[in-house]
Amino acid sequence: MHLSAANHRIPLSDGNSIPIIGLGTFSEPQWTPKGICATSVKAAIDIGYRHIDGAYIYQNEHEVGEAIQEKIAEGKVRREDIFYCGKLWATNHEPEMVRPTLERTLKTLQLDYVDLYIIEIPMALKVECHPYFTQPKLLKFCQQHEIVIVAYSPLGTSRNETWVNVSSPPLLKDELLNSLGKKYNKTAAQVVLRFNIQRGVVVIPKSFNPERIKENFQIFDFSLTEEEMKDIEALNKNIRFVEMLMWSDHPEYPFHDEY
Ligand code: A2P
Repeated sequence: MHLSAANHRIPLSDGNSIPIIGLGTFSEPQWTPKGICATSVKAAIDIGYRHIDGAYIYQNEHEVGEAIQEKIAEGKVRREDIFYCGKLWATNHEPEMVRPTLERTLKTLQLDYVDLYIIEIPMALKVECHPYFTQPKLLKFCQQHEIVIVAYSPLGTSRNETWVNVSSPPLLKDELLNSLGKKYNKTAAQVVLRFNIQRGVVVIPKSFNPERIKENFQIFDFSLTEEEMKDIEALNKNIRFVEMLMWSDHPEYPFHDEY
């Protein structure tokens, strides 16, 4: 499949489609200046991102909504050009809570629909995916069943020690990824993102830094050889950065399962 900056939607089995790169918007609320989320979403839309990944629990969903509204009002995009993924937080799983929780998200966003609404945990936690955690079995299973994987933390997380397992070395410092970056005049981050989109995995790197938002989108003008894809796959360590160990005794803790 040919992916380009202007056209990088991939099909979903229900007939819809999803842009293969999205902007992640989770940022620790207490350390994030007000307004930076909105500025970043607007910058991303200007650069060409059409998929925004957010959640009410991130406490900045209103800024995402403001940014989308502003870009629609400017005529830069139409609502139907944007793919927004929202999330149902773990305290609102009761069936009767789902609709009002979604309606709260819609009100916060000032939108009348979201494109995807997922349960944030435990299932959503299963998609961490990057060269140190390549998820070959899950990928094969999903491909067989026409399920598209969305990889969160595709760059290896923000390495916040309060909730991230930092026993694995930083992904973006990896020697192979950096040497491939040199070969293509790209950064290790761009190689990592290209690796996933080239195998059909959607990526949602978070960045609120204008240069990095741009950098993360410049992945459509090069491709990795089959051998390089294999070499990157071989970096797999089967170690999660996002283990959520504080919830490991929860009956639905997802990471005891094989996938
Ligand atoms: P920043 O917003 O300062 O760019 P996540 O795992 O939630 O997707 O987070 C990705 C982390 O990696 C964020 O801390 C983000 O910080 C950082 N980041 C995003 N893009 C890049 C990049 N191209 N190179 C290095 N770090 C990046």
